[in-house]
Amino acid sequence: MSQADHASTEDALVIFTPSGKRGRFPHGTPVLTAARQLGVDLDSVCGGRGICSKCQISPGYGEFSKHGVTVAADALTEWNSVEERYKSKRGMIDGRRLGCQAKVMGDVVIDVPPESQVHKQVIRKSASQRDIVMDPATRALYVEVSEPDMHEPTGDFERLVTALQTQWGVGEVAAELPILRRLQPALRKGQWSVTVALHKGNHDARHRILDIWPGFHEGKLYGLAIDLGSTTIAAHLCDLHDGSVLASSGVMNPQIRFGEDLMSRVSYAMMNPGGDVEMTAAVRTALNGLIQSIATEAKIVPTSIYEITFVCNPVMHHLLLGIDPVELGQAPFALATSGSLVLDAADLDIKAVNPAARVYILPCIAGHVGADCAAVALSEEPNKSKEMVLIVDVGTNAELLLGNETRVLACSSPTGPAFEGAQISSGQRAAPGAIERVEIDPITKEPRFRVIGSDLWSTDAGFTAATATTGITGICGSGIIEAVAEMRMAGLVDQGGLVGSAEQTGTSRCIPEGRTHSYVLHDGTAIGGPLITVTQGDIRAIQLAKAALYAGAKLLMDEMGIETVEKVVLAGAFGAHISPKHAMVLGMIPDVPLDKVISAGNAAGTGARIALCNVAARDYIEATVHQIHKVETAIEPRFQEHFVNASAIPNAVDTFPELSKIVTLPHVSFNTSGSGGAGGRRRRG
Ligand code: FES
Repeated sequence: MSQADHASTEDALVIFTPSGKRGRFPHGTPVLTAARQLGVDLDSVCGGRGICSKCQISPGYGEFSKHGVTVAADALTEWNSVEERYKSKRGMIDGRRLGCQAKVMGDVVIDVPPESQVHKQVIRKSASQRDIVMDPATRALYVEVSEPDMHEPTGDFERLVTALQTQWGVGEVAAELPILRRLQPALRKGQWSVTVALHKGNHDARHRILDIWPGFHEGKLYGLAIDLGSTTIAAHLCDLHDGSVLASSGVMNPQIRFGEDLMSRVSYAMMNPGGDVEMTAAVRTALNGLIQSIATEAKIVPTSIYEITFVCNPVMHHLLLGIDPVELGQAPFALATSGSLVLDAADLDIKAVNPAARVYILPCIAGHVGADCAAVALSEEPNKSKEMVLIVDVGTNAELLLGNETRVLACSSPTGPAFEGAQISSGQRAAPGAIERVEIDPITKEPRFRVIGSDLWSTDAGFTAATATTGITGICGSGIIEAVAEMRMAGLVDQGGLVGSAEQTGTSRCIPEGRTHSYVLHDGTAIGGPLITVTQGDIRAIQLAKAALYAGAKLLMDEMGIETVEKVVLAGAFGAHISPKHAMVLGMIPDVPLDKVISAGNAAGTGARIALCNVAARDYIEATVHQIHKVETAIEPRFQEHFVNASAIPNAVDTFPELSKIVTLPHVSFNTSGSGGAGGRRRRG
């Protein structure tokens, strides 16, 4: 049957899957047009001109009893030369069609594959991470612009704007001078067609052209989601079209040389005129270096990065912006601004990206509860939880959220950098060679361990060969948590945190160190390697850190009026690596059944990615932070009481009934050396 024969019959029924949207259309309607009219999510960058191939669809033929239609072989117009050219040049899966080329000629069922959906979901990698629906602020659009006409004089820019409005339905459009300078050559070189990178943030009244290319631009647009922490800076490079993460990378925050924790950096700014400027310059230099290296790793040009979202705690936030953080060092801990911020990357001296790149900084919740906590709330959504959930973002400054769909509370707690391997005698970053898992035999007191880079335990055959290149270099954050918890379970450390002597513990691995004792985890000195011990000082540092974390959680539970929580989510760059059992043996987190402790990975980083990929998520989190009630740990007297109790391992007063179902902690006491407990010492930072 010819196409002309079809044209005289009644409208065809078009059914889209997976959306299930359906409608009747006159014969000859392009599938892309039908999809748009029905609000079906079918992508297009070239506006239906057969250039971009984003509109690929899979038509189904035959009997569809579920939909009550039979699809004839000629339900769509024949494969055309545009599709043939595209397939021969670029390849296309057999059976696929270009939605802008194939026209409806009969009842048809059309599947839109995930990669052709504009608002495609970026499928989560781990069970605890949210899917991200793509709706970025920056996208590439191809337009054909009418040529100038002496009799109807208008500027090239005005005709470009008209083309964007008529072909893409965008509203007002603005362009800065550098774009206007490139507009005329681009239009002429592209024979009156151009591709623009068009940006509209959630607070923008107008679209803004960030870049322009002659004709159809094949290149991609990228964005960065950056979690700017006190100790580490982590960045994810994302494709702004499909949300995929091309590379993730991190560097140490160079501000560490001005102070390890937040309050020591605020003090540095207070004590040293111009100290804040120095710290701002240091972090901006590190950011530029990180962006360069992540672009190199992903093999992209850094100028194809058009957007950056930042999440950070309030002190990092102010120092990034070049605002003196002095007010954050004293009550009432006033932020210069708590709202979200939209800036040019150039305003922050971030030069490694496109010169027109835009920055979005998530809102802060309060003086000590920053945009990183807002990002955790965006990623983990405690406000939608039926269970009473405690979310702990473990870092140098821990962020805690407690709540459910009725109410959410937040606080931050000054854990210090011990969990990140700093302040630990053999501590190091999580890198190949670092001890990350530890077990100690409770009878022989002999350890075995695993290092990053090998799946073998140190007692397995082949371990020495497997670690020959990395060596055994130190202990990372998750390793020290396991080491201390295992020492407690093996009776090498008592409830107060004291390490016993060789006589008290029955193992020569407990060696004297001044008036205290250390436990030898690994002695590599015979082959020129390090002696890796867990010292009394290391245990004190872990006690301080975990006590601060637990005290913060207890303060939130007091405020909520609850004794127990139903679920604990461990987040943070290394939160995913913390063993729930060991965290509970230490008393880092409240007692819950072990299967109710979930790892969320870097939830703050995920929140930054969500805000990068979905512009509506920015509105959502800006509204949500106003519903989160902040609890200030620094001025709350009960924090100190909880902190002192939590300095014991696991706790001086709280019981851990769920933990005691699986672990029996030995009753030992080594309080003869004169070394006091950790209680009473605390730091904010
Ligand atoms: S919409 Fe671009 S090829 Fe079909």
